[in-house]
Amino acid sequence: MSEEVIKIEGGHRLRGSVKISGSKNATVALIPAAILATGPVTICGVPNISDVASLSDLLRDLGVQVIMKAQDHIVIDPTEMQNKPMVQEAVSKLRASYYFMGALLGKYGRVEMKMPGGCYLGPRPIDLHLKGFEALGATVTYDHGAYIIEAKELVGNKVFLDISSVGATINIMMAAVYARGRTIIENAAKEPEIIDVATLLNKMGAKIRGVGTNVITIDGVDNLSGCFHEIIPDRIEAATYIVLAAAAADEMVIENIIPAHLESLLSKLQEIGIELDIDVDKITIRRGDKPLKAADIKTLPYPGFATDIQQPLTTLLTQAQGQSVVTETIYTERFKHCYELSKMGANIDVRIPSSFINGGTTLSGAIVEATDLRCGASLVIAGLIAEGVTEIHSIYHIERGYENLDGKLKSLGAKIWREIV
Ligand code: EPU
Repeated sequence: MSEEVIKIEGGHRLRGSVKISGSKNATVALIPAAILATGPVTICGVPNISDVASLSDLLRDLGVQVIMKAQDHIVIDPTEMQNKPMVQEAVSKLRASYYFMGALLGKYGRVEMKMPGGCYLGPRPIDLHLKGFEALGATVTYDHGAYIIEAKELVGNKVFLDISSVGATINIMMAAVYARGRTIIENAAKEPEIIDVATLLNKMGAKIRGVGTNVITIDGVDNLSGCFHEIIPDRIEAATYIVLAAAAADEMVIENIIPAHLESLLSKLQEIGIELDIDVDKITIRRGDKPLKAADIKTLPYPGFATDIQQPLTTLLTQAQGQSVVTETIYTERFKHCYELSKMGANIDVRIPSSFINGGTTLSGAIVEATDLRCGASLVIAGLIAEGVTEIHSIYHIERGYENLDGKLKSLGAKIWREIV
């Protein structure tokens, strides 16, 4: 069967500036959150990625009007919406379909949905989401591959998250906005995307306090109305371009970022020997003359080092002197990119939950597979610095989360193109 692939001819040093798009992981929660309103919600800064297209299709299946305006505005009008079972194949295309669980439960007191999909990073249970819904008074049954979650009335309660899960925090917040009384989420996750979702809900009229700390309080309200919201910049896309610049550019400016969201990465890069000039909303990256130093990384919930960034950073560490150790505490099997990078000449030993990267290797072009979204990012960076041509397969993973990757890289001087093979 033929397939579209990305090809990259490596070795062309990049230069210039690149503008970061709106956050994917915020967008995929903001879109389901919008259905909690009784009127139209306008969201701007929406990235043009396939996850947004998939969520828009799911909204239309529910009778929600979705209008893409200008380049990056989306108007979501749930006025005519119906609570239909979400058991179609499209639900399995992405992880974030599970945000419809919290949103539909919150709005109608009932949701029927098949198991969401998304990148395979090892087991990704949703027990904490369900624990939260149950704490609010819902019952959960699993029948013929679908969850049925329903409640006569949702009533606020205390929910302790055994792991500070991003998805569970957002989902419980959405289920609780209309619940009677007060919901308290303890050991809540603190990722910036959660703050963005709470900001939207509060603009709609919700009463959510404490986001960004590990205790979030939600006082139920009777009505949420339409509003306008601008998405925060994508810190993972920004991190990808920053690492890419460190690997493949003489000098590059990354624009439309919030540096505070990237602190753990920026400190690590300085440790590795990358020169950074940090401004209010942009960063200039320069590759000095000195060799890069190896560094150890341990992934942790925000504000620790993000699991999504360890994959692209691994490619840079193949160019550092000495051995770097990456230890995964969030998704202990998130190392498929290491096997793909090895096909290009990287010397990486994976012993779960760590990868041992023996740096200072020359990478060369090979046929590789983007086994998940951030694996794809790590391979693109590898392709840019490798000798010869790299051919990346399964690029639909990359298209799920990086807006106009080819266009942005071409504008920086990369030789990147697509081919049907
Ligand atoms: N977990 C449970 N039970 C649950 C929920 C989570 O055990 O009910 C565990 C997970 O298995 C994992 C840890 O808790 O070990 C953290 O998972 P979390 O729920 O925080 O992850 P998520 O919400 O499913 C989001 C991002 C991921 C990112 C993680 C961690 C979205 C749509 N996805 O996933 O992003 O890696 O948080 O920060 O926001 C990506 O962008 O490439 C990506 C995979």
